[in-house]
Order: sequence, then structure tokens, then C-alpha cells
Amino acid sequence: MGRFDGRVAVITGAARGIGFGAATRFAEEGASVAILDLDESAAAEAATKLPGEAKHIGVGANVGRSADVDAAVGRVVEELGGLHIVMNNAGVTRDNLLFKMTEDDWDVVMNVHLKGAFLLSKAAQAHFVAQKYGKIVNVSSTSALGNRGQANYSAAKMGIQGFTRTLAIELGPFGVNVNAIAPGFIATEMTDATAARLKLDVDEFRRLSAEHNAVKRVGHPEDIAAAAAFLASDEASYITGQTLYVDGGATLG
Ligand SMILES: NC(=O)c1ccc[n+]([C@@H]2O[C@H](COP(=O)([O-])OP(=O)(O)OC[C@H]3O[C@@H](n4cnc5c(N)ncnc54)[C@H](O)[C@@H]3O)[C@@H](O)[C@H]2O)c1
Repeated sequence: MGRFDGRVAVITGAARGIGFGAATRFAEEGASVAILDLDESAAAEAATKLPGEAKHIGVGANVGRSADVDAAVGRVVEELGGLHIVMNNAGVTRDNLLFKMTEDDWDVVMNVHLKGAFLLSKAAQAHFVAQKYGKIVNVSSTSALGNRGQANYSAAKMGIQGFTRTLAIELGPFGVNVNAIAPGFIATEMTDATAARLKLDVDEFRRLSAEHNAVKRVGHPEDIAAAAAFLASDEASYITGQTLYVDGGATLG
């Protein structure tokens, strides 16, 4: 018996990185998983790599576009037979100091993180409220607390926390739990790209990042997957509106 037997989970930005790690964990625990990502073929390819007996699919969609999101949710419900868990994970960075940050840098980041989470949560809640059951896990970041060069990303990630608290209040009476995870440094293509931008070797960047937390190692997608699976499980049904920092103690001071 897996914790997610008979459950259907949609995870955005799950063709790679943290999202794929979470998709793997949900599938291992019995869920039928829809990997939603920008490129349909990359999403479908990732879905073929998921473990478990349940059916998994890949769906191409831009989370910032309502037509894409509504069509994706319709497809998931039709092909996988329902919807019980949503993880709003898709993300991008457009880092720059404020004086160099363009309007486009701001809009792209807001659109993917905040509007994306809004559109998918809204589409999912219709199903969740009707069936009086649902779990939403949003992905924030330690950068929500402030990070040089990330005014757009920090605002979006702290926005995610307010969004999470508000949905928890609105949807709690309908059997829906809404929580967020704020990862610290996780070794993925996103942080590898940051290393390249800073002209640092990937291993050196990871080593330096590990020095800035209590456990002296970087995080991996599996670390976030474990927390996401707990928050999406029925063991966490009395937890809602919370942001869990999964950062090796990086924000302890
Ligand atoms: N890696 C870290 O250290 C870290 C730390 C804190 C928070 N996060 C957050 O975790 C999430 C996942 O990050 P990651 O490190 O796995 O990044 P990643 O770049 O490896 O993966 C992001 C995925 O999101 C997809 N995506 C981007 N825009 C999209 C859109 N409009 N619609 C659908 N999919 C889209 C990409 O195609 C990609 O597959 C992001 O929200 C990120 O901000 C990451």
C-alpha cells in the first residue's frame, strides 16, 4: 500500500529537477502522475521514466496561460480519471540588480511563479471542492526572505507564501490542504545556470553554497520530494497554510 494509491497528482515544471524528483516520489508511492512542462515531448519522455504501476502522462503547457492550464487539467482528469494533488513547482529566474532589471525580467518571473500557481490552483479547486478533497503544495524559496539580484524572484516567492495562506483559509472548509515548501540551495539545472552566470565551476559553487547552511551539504531534489510527499499525504491533514523551509538550516542565521 502506497500513501498515494488511487490518487492523481499534477506537478508543474516536472520534466526535470525538483519537479521530476517529486514526480518520482509520488509515483513510487502509488500515484498516477501528470508531468506538466513547457515542451510536450520532454514532459512525455520524463513520464516514461516514472516508476510504479499507475498510468503517468506528460502534458505540454505554459502555466502562465489560462487556456493551456485549463486544457491540461481537462486532459488529466479525462486520461488519469481525476485530480487530487497539485504541486505548483514550475519556475524560472531572471536575476539582475534592480537598476538593470527589465520590465520583461519582472513580468516573466511573476507570470510563471505567481500567475502560474494562481491559474492551476483555480482550475484544480473546482474538482477539489466538488469531491471535498485536495492537496496543493506550492514551491516558494529561501529567496523569499531577500536575496541580492532577485527582487523579482524574491517578491514572487514571498507572494507564493501569502497565496498559500489565503487559499488555506478559503479551501480548508472543503477538505483542501494548501502548504508551501521553501527550498534552500538544491542542485539542479537552475542552480547550475546560476553558477555559469557567476562564472563559477558547478562543483565549486555547490561547495561554497554548502558552507552557508548548518548541515554543510547542498540539497537534492529528493530532499524536497520527501517534504512534498508528506505535505500532500493524509498524515498532514491538520497542517495547512504553512511554509516549510527545507534548506539545511541556511535561514537559521
Ligand atoms: N534549485 C534551487 O536551488 C531552488 C531553490 C528554491 C526554489 N526553487 C524553485 O523550485 C522550482 C523548481 O526549480 P528547479 O531547480 O527544479 O528548476 P529547473 O530549471 O531545473 O526546472 C524548472 C522546470 O520548470 C519548467 N518551466 C519553466 N517555465 C514554465 C512554464 N511557464 N510552464 C511550465 N513549465 C515551466 C522548465 O521547463 C523546467 O522543466 C522552481 O519554482 C524554483 O524557483 C529552486
